[in-house]
Amino acid sequence: MQFDFTTLAPQDRYKLLTSTVLPRPIAWVVSQDLKGVLNAAPFSFFNVFAQDPPVLIIGIGGRRPGDAKDTGNNIRETGEFVVNMVAESNAEAMNITAIDFPPEVDELAEAGLTTVPSLKVKVPRIAESPVAFECERMMIIELASDRALVVGKVLAMHVHDEFVLNPERLYIDTPKLRLLGRMHGGGGYVRTSDLIDMPRIKVQDWERKT
Ligand SMILES: Cc1cc2nc3c(=O)[nH]c(=O)nc-3n(C[C@H](O)[C@H](O)[C@H](O)COP(=O)(O)O)c2cc1C
Repeated sequence: MQFDFTTLAPQDRYKLLTSTVLPRPIAWVVSQDLKGVLNAAPFSFFNVFAQDPPVLIIGIGGRRPGDAKDTGNNIRETGEFVVNMVAESNAEAMNITAIDFPPEVDELAEAGLTTVPSLKVKVPRIAESPVAFECERMMIIELASDRALVVGKVLAMHVHDEFVLNPERLYIDTPKLRLLGRMHGGGGYVRTSDLIDMPRIKVQDWERKT
């Protein structure tokens, strides 16, 4: 079956895209408005795209056309945010921070989360998350009146000590992080513990074999 995206309604495109492009990592974004009110929300239109400069991108939609989400508004205003990764143990709290609270509500407090001051930005990180990236806004790419891509530059990264196998060689105990991925449907998630190891093939080895 084929689907013509030029004639499909946006919510139908969303359904098809999010039920086939997966699992998606989840950026649990902490931001702050100009008055200092903290905000947290998860975004799975997210990934890292480069290491030089170290770039990550988050796709932020609107609640309704013209009604931007608080995360996007805060990043526009202050230019700073922290992306926290979501572990299995963070799942319930992450889901609470996705509730459509009004801007004056601090989702971190609602979810019973604690914050730790950041090194390079005013926005704190989530203490309970095993990995966090302190970011500054590089640019915002406007896709529509209520939809934008936030391009962030990573200024600093935190990893809980228990997950760092070798600080000199920068080895992280990735399986131990037990990060969650976003799957399809309203509430679908996946664990990252079902691993397959497949080393890259060198061209010389391939040619010798054939
Ligand atoms: C796992 C998960 C992933 C989400 N991904 C996105 C996303 O990529 N883009 C988006 O606009 N909203 C996404 N949402 C919805 C936002 O988290 C939700 O609208 C939130 O209330 C926005 O909060 P804010 O207005 O405080 O920024 C996601 C929700 C969940 C639970």
